[in-house]
Amino acid sequence: MSKTHKICLIEGDGIGHEVIPAARIVLEAAGVKLEFIEAVAGWETFERIGTSVPDETVEAISHTDATLFGAATSPTRKVAGFFGAIRYLRRKLDLFANVRPARHHPVPGSREGVDLVVVRENTEGLYVEQERMYLNGEIAIADTVITKKASARIGEYAAKLAQSRPRKSLHIAHKANVLPVTQGLFLNTALGEAAKYPEVKTQDIIIDNCAMQLVRAPERFDVIVTTNLFGDILSDLTAGLVGGLGIAASGNIGLEHAVFEPVHGSAPDIAGKGISNPAATLFSAVMMLEHLGEAAAAQRLEKALDHVLAQGPRTPDLGGSANTMQFAEAVAKAL
Ligand code: NAI
Ligand code: MG
Repeated sequence: MSKTHKICLIEGDGIGHEVIPAARIVLEAAGVKLEFIEAVAGWETFERIGTSVPDETVEAISHTDATLFGAATSPTRKVAGFFGAIRYLRRKLDLFANVRPARHHPVPGSREGVDLVVVRENTEGLYVEQERMYLNGEIAIADTVITKKASARIGEYAAKLAQSRPRKSLHIAHKANVLPVTQGLFLNTALGEAAKYPEVKTQDIIIDNCAMQLVRAPERFDVIVTTNLFGDILSDLTAGLVGGLGIAASGNIGLEHAVFEPVHGSAPDIAGKGISNPAATLFSAVMMLEHLGEAAAAQRLEKALDHVLAQGPRTPDLGGSANTMQFAEAVAKAL
């Protein structure tokens, strides 16, 4: 008898209310035993109850086998008492590795031969969110925190991942030329970890050059490890290489917990219209099934997704006219 996996579902804000229900109907057709527990987080939750992540949500994530998260809105102005839901969960649950694959899919604009993974440090850097204003708003300062511990475990995670892939290639992307203390600590620590994997071909690359090389010759890259902010930016770039945010998946992985989520945000420009692409969430669900040890179901779902992406119906971001649920139903049928 196969095991029933408990899955925490968090819609969050905006198109999170569309892509998570869509993912649920597909997962129900995926041929694995899943029990769903719903929890809340995000801006709407903050507006309703004064916190963007209630304790019950942390509990729900802690007591389930994996979590699928939609998206959460963060305002661009400072709001007293507010903190970003997903960034809080990454730190609170020590989800230190943000794993963001980008590979070619049968959709318009997707570059042939791309099969890479951005591994983003997920708990520190500039995303410790420590900002201050001085001199009546004339000067703003943000802290960046780089620790040996976090740099070592993300370096090790990336080197191990590279070791498990056919090309066994690792790029450590950094800006140690300008920030030799913080970025230097990250670079040297990650290089030290990678050296423990002699089969892995490791090279360091300055982040701006990395961005340019990714646009010109993305097929040359395999695993790229970098710090938090750089990884955030680079993974939207790599999503753009293979079909955009509508299909880009991610996993926030810790030693005890894992939260899977699309790379995209709450997409306020299209939220509520029912036309968002749930494929990014569904590819995140593929990663979740793999994480749960359901490799066969993960493969089936991935195949069904690429089948529907190739044949249609597609959502408007990929040039089609299907809505969120029509895409999801087509995937469920293809399973
Ligand atoms: P976004 O990713 O929400 O949207 C960027 C563009 O991509 C928009 O034009 C949107 O319509 C499109 N898009 C995104 N996902 C799509 C999908 N599934 N199907 C079709 N089109 C899609 O990024 P944006 O606009 O910069 O941020 C909006 C809000 O989301 C902000 O409050 C931001 O803080 C938040 N955000 C949250 C994230 C998370 O929860 N992990 C990640 C990124 C942003
Ligand atoms: Mg981002």
